Amino acid sequence: MGDILVCVSKTFYIETFGCQMNAHDSEKVIGTLEQQGYARVQDEDAAGLILYNTCSIRDKAEQKVFHRLNEYKKLQGEGKKFAVLGCVAQQEGQKIFEKAPYVSMVAGSASYRNLPEMLRRLEAGEERITGLDDRQTELTFETEFTARSNPHRGYITIIEGCDKFCAYCVVPYTRGKERSRTAASVLVEARKMVDLGFTEIQFLGQNVNSYRDPSGRMSFAELLVAVGELPGIRRVRFTTSHPRDFTRDIVQAIDDTPTLCDHIHLPVQSGSTAVLQAMAREYTREWYLERMNWIKAAKRDISITSDMIVGFPGETDADFEETITLVGEVKYDAVFAFKFSPRPNTPAVTMADSIPDEVKTERLRILMDRQREIQRKHYGRHLGEVQEVMVESYNPSRNQVVGRSTQNKTVNFSTAQIVQARPPIGSYLPVRITQTLPNCLVGEAIEDAEALPVASVQRASDFVVLN
Ligand code: 5AD
Ligand code: SF4
Repeated sequence: MGDILVCVSKTFYIETFGCQMNAHDSEKVIGTLEQQGYARVQDEDAAGLILYNTCSIRDKAEQKVFHRLNEYKKLQGEGKKFAVLGCVAQQEGQKIFEKAPYVSMVAGSASYRNLPEMLRRLEAGEERITGLDDRQTELTFETEFTARSNPHRGYITIIEGCDKFCAYCVVPYTRGKERSRTAASVLVEARKMVDLGFTEIQFLGQNVNSYRDPSGRMSFAELLVAVGELPGIRRVRFTTSHPRDFTRDIVQAIDDTPTLCDHIHLPVQSGSTAVLQAMAREYTREWYLERMNWIKAAKRDISITSDMIVGFPGETDADFEETITLVGEVKYDAVFAFKFSPRPNTPAVTMADSIPDEVKTERLRILMDRQREIQRKHYGRHLGEVQEVMVESYNPSRNQVVGRSTQNKTVNFSTAQIVQARPPIGSYLPVRITQTLPNCLVGEAIEDAEALPVASVQRASDFVVLN
């Protein structure tokens, strides 16, 4: 009986909401729990400890967590423990214990390095454990026990927190002060990943290019190159960049280093200088467009993607029109657009001239329609190209392989081999693009791979742009 109880209390279920940073934090939390003797299970019913790693970037993300907590209220009676981690935990703090008294632990990301100690207190029966006071820390969460879910593509957080304080954003309040890991520590982790067989590494940070090596040894661009040059590495990505810290040497590094991927995610948020100023982004439309020109002047075709917010307080029709003309000018390969959502503690909450929800909805629709038009045309440039694709999964209903190009575009392709043997997940294949859609590419694997140089642009007259 005793054995069974121990076994039950040492199982956990974790659910993750939000961004890639959160997904990767969960990989580190999972590794830490496993190292502490916990076994992961795939459903709440079998778990002794249920953890939610939460997001509060927009109100919908936040509501999801409280819905989930309500749904599982009844499980408390079964002797289960609950922990709320991440951005909602940091933002709501002790209030979570009032809303959901069956929660035993509330911890923000800046305190995860104390998890082993918090887990011991949880096991000892403590009921209101908090990890909320670490936002001013200089320390990062480094662990050798990261449980990476994908054996081919792995994330490394190189910088935590944020000091930019954009007027709409919760992140500086939820993830704390900006702090970078040393280049030496990042390189040790990257080398270990190469030894384990990872071929793609993605650097993560809220403002990844604000990276400052505390030892002063390497710039962000130099660190990218150093990892890109590790033998065995085929692809290096990084996200998310901030325009203010975007320097020309990043473009140069991509141009010079074949393993650095042809993709930069550089959120603009708005095309209007007046709105950018109200958002405290500290750059103008022209200043941002200059960075776009650096990227477009590269030797390689670097894909550019962005985030945008519509309906920020005070955004006029004319301001919004500037966002529309900006997307037309830049020709992004993808735009993630959001309606402004007032967030607790941020300066934008108290700003006048709030925009009615119908107007936000309409602006979002117009922006997405415009961007879809742009993608429909702009993706056409890939028709006939031969692109290297990393295999991610299969779509049995279509008998297609699904993979990703260096530009991070989804490529659905067929191959003669698929009938006999599917190409392994994580392998790289040259694929000729035969059709382009607004959100993905379609192609055929080239069987005689040796015969063709990858990324050669070979246009053929019988290819068609669909949609
Ligand atoms: N309202 C709407 N969108 C937001 N984002 C961040 N904060 C808010 C907010 N309060 C968007 C930004 C950011 C992306 C991750 O989420 O576009 O780049
Ligand atoms: Fe959500 Fe931002 Fe926190 Fe990521 S950092 S989980 S996007 S609130």
